[in-house]
Amino acid sequence: MNKKVAVLGTQFGDEAKGRITHHLSPHYKYIIRTSGSNNCGHVVYMDDKKYAFHYLPSADFRDNRINAFLGAGMVANPETLLEEILSFSKDFKDLGSRIIIDPNMFLVQDKHIEEDKLKNAHIGTTNKGVGPAFKSKVSRESIRFQDLIDSKEEVISKLLDAGVKFKTAYEMLGEFKSSDCLFEGAQGVLLDLNFGTYPYVTSCDCTISSIGASGFNSIKLNKVYGIAKGGYMTRVGNGPFPTEMFGAPAERLILDGKEFGSTTGRKRRVGYMDLPALKYACAMGGVTELILTKLDVLDNHESIKICVDYDKPIRGPKDFETAKPIYEEIKGWKNAKDFSVAVIALIDLVEKVTKCTVGKVSFGVGKDDIRDV
Ligand code: IMP
Ligand code: MG
Repeated sequence: MNKKVAVLGTQFGDEAKGRITHHLSPHYKYIIRTSGSNNCGHVVYMDDKKYAFHYLPSADFRDNRINAFLGAGMVANPETLLEEILSFSKDFKDLGSRIIIDPNMFLVQDKHIEEDKLKNAHIGTTNKGVGPAFKSKVSRESIRFQDLIDSKEEVISKLLDAGVKFKTAYEMLGEFKSSDCLFEGAQGVLLDLNFGTYPYVTSCDCTISSIGASGFNSIKLNKVYGIAKGGYMTRVGNGPFPTEMFGAPAERLILDGKEFGSTTGRKRRVGYMDLPALKYACAMGGVTELILTKLDVLDNHESIKICVDYDKPIRGPKDFETAKPIYEEIKGWKNAKDFSVAVIALIDLVEKVTKCTVGKVSFGVGKDDIRDV
């Protein structure tokens, strides 16, 4: 076997990518993060305990055959990265020695975090310094992990003591080409720097380009899973959200879906599922198969409103600022687990509008709360 798959978000992040990566991870030797930073909070449940991964991919690290690679398309603050590794090492045996970091990864420095807090409130960033860190990188004034290795910084000794290895994408390429690899994306296509709702976006690629940005252009993917919440969607931070809902229906979804940011604790904005935006995200992201998550959140809804079109064609990200959604109402379901006619009708509608196949649905955080379609 020699499988290469990617898991990407197709909305504004928080599509439950972590849950899907975690579910698939036992089939892969390497789980590879290629973009973003600790602005992400990928939540998974293991042995009834909740874990929020920020830098590390959301692998099932209880299985000690699984290894993680953090690619140079990411940016990281070495201190908080070390903290995260040490904190998860308590629960997962030999975790440090299963983590490889690309020394070409650029740093998030304290000054970047300060700048984010001071200057980016209008975007509603996570204040992790991500935008300023990428800005320093692009303006060619930043430093990488390699520089800390060369100057023998203490934080590097601590990472090495934890068992972590530093290897470049180029050094890993042969091994990755002959191994089963899962590339875990960060955020979602609508937050992509180029194709998202700029300037209300994150500062890196959220499409399959992120895999190239970490040095893996020569790896051919067999499948690109696009993850979307089924039946509704969310956004944290500011920016256009054509199908946003307010008032009691929104509050109900926030509570039922536990829609609070796992990195910042912020209440998420919620909206109706936006299929034209999903079609756009699949096309721009490079998605080959959709997975719909959190269907259980809509259990016991009499009916479900879905955006099936806009009042004008979408040519690019700018159009999301003014497009008016056109809705269709479908029948709700009692229990998504039953996979009733109503659930199948949602899947059919998603496939019809997006022209992309739905391969799996998930309806809970439990091991068995996921099925093939
Ligand atoms: P930054 O990535 O912290 O610069 O934030 C830029 C925008 O992306 C803000 O609207 C954030 O709320 C959003 N964002 C960043 N990371 C995530 C994530 O993991 N999930 C959801 N939204 C995110
Ligand atoms: Mg999240």
